[in-house]
Amino acid sequence: MANPFYKRDVLSLKDFKREDLELLFSTTDKLTEMKYRERVSLGEGRILGIMFFEPSTRTRLSFESAMASIGGTSVGFSETKTTSIEKGESFADTVRIVEANSDVVVLRHPMEGSARFASEISLKPIVSGGTGTEEHPTQAMLDLYTIYKEKGRIDGLRICIVGDLKYGRTVYSLIYALSKYDVKVDLVSPPILKIRREATYNLEKIAGKDKSIEITERESLKSVLHEVDVVYVTRIQRERFPDEQEYEKVRGSYYLDAELAGMMKSDAIVMHPLPRLDEIRPDLDATPHARYFKQVQYGRNVRAALLSLILNS
Ligand code: CP
Repeated sequence: MANPFYKRDVLSLKDFKREDLELLFSTTDKLTEMKYRERVSLGEGRILGIMFFEPSTRTRLSFESAMASIGGTSVGFSETKTTSIEKGESFADTVRIVEANSDVVVLRHPMEGSARFASEISLKPIVSGGTGTEEHPTQAMLDLYTIYKEKGRIDGLRICIVGDLKYGRTVYSLIYALSKYDVKVDLVSPPILKIRREATYNLEKIAGKDKSIEITERESLKSVLHEVDVVYVTRIQRERFPDEQEYEKVRGSYYLDAELAGMMKSDAIVMHPLPRLDEIRPDLDATPHARYFKQVQYGRNVRAALLSLILNS
């Protein structure tokens, strides 16, 4: 199979097929088993450009660590205050400067469409590290890999996605990724945080096959908790609300703790892209359901595999 990631932008999960994701997962498995010398040959002498216009802990550290783990290095910025953007340099020129100093660039930005715009300027591949409320494709790649590793399969599972489905960008990438599998998905949220129609519209076309994902929207987490294999919890994205009053209407409206997790199947897992606030209570961490820190561990190798596929034919 030709490498579909080679020199390619990673902007949306809509752009990748199921077999592409499976190649990424098998590459991640291989890379995880590789000896140090073989692993560092994949990115030796290569440079990852980092352009982060929004705060991040996991995505930036994970990409930098992933690049170092395959023998490469990273340059760039994680806040604009230390760059010439402060002197008025445009976004387009900033992209040109970072890509001229890199082999591949990861971009996080608060505006929808910014990664696609950057990809039209850059000669090097652009990987979205999350743009506005739009998508966070590499998060969905590691989420799907976590499900595959922890449940042994993706087809046939029932997956509940709960929380801020309106503004949470990881949810959109995850639905586009899951649409390529035979899964049942329960979307649970307060009414004002329901999924935007763009996520469920035209899923057949995105899936590239007869649609077999089944989506049900609900308001009650308890009503479905005992039936699902995976609960994917998301944070309320306070920073994306138009005003504080809207946020106050939904603050604390859902959570999962050890007591509620007791209603789940014994082998059901709980995931979260993190950071979490109060929607996953700390007492859940010690239960056998918690997988949100395992997700972070898988993320480094998934991103290392992705970078190695982008950089090597
Ligand atoms: N999951 C995630 O994107 O976390 P950060 O915002 O810390 O990168």
